[in-house]
Amino acid sequence: MPYLFHCIPDLLFAAMMPVATVMPDDTPMFDPRILQELDWSENTTTFSPAISPLDPGDGLVLRPLCTADLNRGFFKVLGQLTETGVVSPEQFIKTFEHMKRSGDYYVTVVEDTNLGQIVATATLVIEHKFTHSCAKRGRIEDVVVSGECRGKQLGKLLTSTLTLLSKRLNCYKITLECLPKNVDFYKKFGYLVSDENYMFQRISSDLKVDEFHGIYTM
Ligand SMILES: CC(C)(COP(=O)(O)OP(=O)(O)OC[C@H]1O[C@@H](n2cnc3c(N)ncnc32)[C@H](O)[C@@H]1OP(=O)(O)O)[C@@H](O)C(=O)NCCC(=O)NCCS
Repeated sequence: MPYLFHCIPDLLFAAMMPVATVMPDDTPMFDPRILQELDWSENTTTFSPAISPLDPGDGLVLRPLCTADLNRGFFKVLGQLTETGVVSPEQFIKTFEHMKRSGDYYVTVVEDTNLGQIVATATLVIEHKFTHSCAKRGRIEDVVVSGECRGKQLGKLLTSTLTLLSKRLNCYKITLECLPKNVDFYKKFGYLVSDENYMFQRISSDLKVDEFHGIYTM
């Protein structure tokens, strides 16, 4: 009997095996030392009482996102900013790995270690450009503090940290988009209202929940 025939049952079995499931873990999206080694004396915002990325407050830790944060209420916090949609663990891990591999995503969280819950998050994305001698632009995105923890300086801490991080990564400019009601918040860190218009075109306005798979489809 040709060799291939012997192999067919094995090949069929391999094809039927479930794809290895990747489990959420504590691997950080980026090296936490870059946050710990920021020169906090360069921070221009006032904190009272004094807090810093190394010492964000009692029981709090400021650190990079990891996939285990999926089970620590990361989406519950993000959902207080905007519609998150239904995201499966596989989708979350795939997107996380993509961001991690690129090296340009700094999704940062504050965890309340007593509760084992994420209470705040903000993201710095580095955009690479050919202009300005192949410069980098920092974009601050998705700044949100959970309702119960607002007013404890965590929004300020994350925004100051990511602003300093952009400088540390040699960005020539940092930009962000926000609602008019939040303009004064960002002015605290030196951001100015631009003369340029923010324009957009919404492409996926037609998202529907696929009830069978529990995911959003076009
Ligand atoms: C905006 C947000 C991140 C601020 O975080 P926070 O933890 O509540 O604020 P902090 O405690 O860090 O900062 C408090 C300081 O900011 C000021 N502040 C807070 N929210 C503000 C706002 N929307 N506009 C102007 N100032 C604001 C406070 O007056 C205070 O000023 P002070 O330090 O001079 O006393 C938080 O309210 C939030 O998550 N909002 C919902 C999501 C959102 O809108 N995110 C911004 C997306 S662009």
